[in-house]
Amino acid sequence: MPATKRIQPRINMSAESTRITTDHFQYIAARTIPEDAFLRDLNAAAAAAEIPPIRISAEQAALMRILLTAANTKTVVEVGTLAGYSAINMARALPADGHVHTIEALSKHADFARDWIARSDVADRITVHEGKGADVLRTLPADSADAAFLDADKPKYPLYLDECLRIVRTGGLIMADNAFAFGQLFDENPTDPEAPAMKAFNDKIAADPRLDAVIIPIGDGLWIGVKK
Ligand code: DHB
Ligand code: MG
Repeated sequence: MPATKRIQPRINMSAESTRITTDHFQYIAARTIPEDAFLRDLNAAAAAAEIPPIRISAEQAALMRILLTAANTKTVVEVGTLAGYSAINMARALPADGHVHTIEALSKHADFARDWIARSDVADRITVHEGKGADVLRTLPADSADAAFLDADKPKYPLYLDECLRIVRTGGLIMADNAFAFGQLFDENPTDPEAPAMKAFNDKIAADPRLDAVIIPIGDGLWIGVKK
């Protein structure tokens, strides 16, 4: 083919994006390294223990590992451990002397996560801090982490963000889950009581001069940003 320069872009929406469909998400998932047998066993055990089947997708886990690795992250703070799935994924992206400090309010979840983390390949890289996110975050020193992952209690996200902007160093990574509000972003009357809080948080972080941040349309929408 002759090397003629095209004037028009392939998609007729300059500066816009290809329209993502369910097929694209299936395509992405089919080209993502699946979770290993250990994490599959963890998920099955969590279901048997009647822990809610809420976790990041394998694609989101891959993206988060890649970001943490690319940023040479050593220390991560996570709000919301649940069964430990995301903490184990993140710990796998850290060097041997790296650490995930993950916070969990419910003792049933904290006990389960501690048990499975102890049997994992990253047992010495994760500490489960039992307590409410706001309370535990306040005990962590300023500039003591390279990255943070906000999950758990959606109305508390603004408070988590303020604390994490204190704890994470300048240039560090801030991630926040569920930007798409459990799929209810455009529902006029969302059934999920936490959906309005996510929508309010999205508007707040988008206008926050302390970060440079963008939503990645993976999983239920993932905010990624750097602390300026
Ligand atoms: C749900 C998913 C999440 O990622 C979360 O943080 C909370 C709830 C859900 O699907 O209900
Ligand atoms: Mg979440």
